[in-house]
Amino acid sequence: KKWYAVIGDPIEQSMSPAMHDEWFQENGIDASYLPIHVKADHLENAIESLKRLGCSGWNVTVPHKSAIIPFIDKLDESARRMNAVNTVKVLEDGTLYGTNTDGRGFVRSLQEIGCVSGKIDEVLIIGAGGAANGISFALEAAGFGPLSFTNRTVDKAQQLAANFKDGAALSLSDAESSISKFGLIVQTTSVGMNFAQSGMPMNPNGIADGTVVSDIIYNPLETEFLRTARDSGGNIINGIGMFVHQGALAFELWTGVYPDTKKMITSISTKLG
Ligand code: ATR
Repeated sequence: KKWYAVIGDPIEQSMSPAMHDEWFQENGIDASYLPIHVKADHLENAIESLKRLGCSGWNVTVPHKSAIIPFIDKLDESARRMNAVNTVKVLEDGTLYGTNTDGRGFVRSLQEIGCVSGKIDEVLIIGAGGAANGISFALEAAGFGPLSFTNRTVDKAQQLAANFKDGAALSLSDAESSISKFGLIVQTTSVGMNFAQSGMPMNPNGIADGTVVSDIIYNPLETEFLRTARDSGGNIINGIGMFVHQGALAFELWTGVYPDTKKMITSISTKLG
C-alpha cells in the first residue's frame, strides 16, 4: 500500500490529509496520507526517514518550502523560479523530484470559474513576495498579461516586475487611481488573514463591473478586501480554489488522476464557512 504525507511546523491545522484521503477513496486508490510534524532542525532526518519508510511522495508546507531545496535531486522550473518546493515525488530509483504547484493551482482555480487568458487584458498583482512571484510566473506561462505589480514597498514591486515581459510597477495610490483598467486583480499579501492583520493592502473601490478579484487567503473565507470588491461589482474568488488545485496537481503527479476539485471546494467552504 502506498503512502504520502505533508511535513510542516505546525501541521495540525492542515486540511491536506482529509482532502487527499477523500480523493484516494473516491478514485479507488489504496493509499493513505499522513500529517507529519517536522521541526526545522529535523528536516534532513525527516527526509531520510520518509525515504527509508517507503513514502511515495509528500507535500511541504511552512517553514520548509525553501529549506528542503538542497535535499531535492531534481527541481522543475516552477520550483526553481519560486525557490520553493511544495510537492515531492520519490522516483523509481529513489531520487527526489521537487515541484511547486501553488502558482499553477491558482491558475487552475481561475480557469475553473471561466477566467481564461484570452478574456482578460490587464492584470494587477498586489504584493511582491514569494506568493506573488509564483502566481505571476504561472499566470504568464498560461498567457495572462501584461502584469502590473503594486506593493507597500514599491522597490520590491519594481524588482519583481523586471522579471516579466511588459511587467510594470505602481505605487499603491497609482494602482488605486487606475484600478478600473484591470480585468483581473490578485491579492497575494497576508493582510486580512486570521483577523490578525486587519484592513486591506489597498482599496479595490472603483473596479470595473465584473472584474475578477481574487485573494489567496481562505481564512477568513471573505477578507475585507474581497467584501469591498464584491460590493463594488467584482466577481470574487477566495483562496480555497488555489489550495484545492495545488493539492489536485500533486495528486495527479503521484497517481496520474486529476481528482474532483469542485466537490472538494464546496465541502471545504462549508466546513470553514
Ligand atoms: P509570501 O511568501 O506569503 O508572499 P513574503 O515573501 O514575506 O510572503 O511577502 C509578503 C508580502 O506581503 C509582501 O509583498 C509584503 O509587503 P512588503 O514587501 O512591503 O513587506 C506584504 N505585506 C505583508 N504584511 C503587510 C502589511 N501589513 N501591509 C501591506 N503589505 C504587507
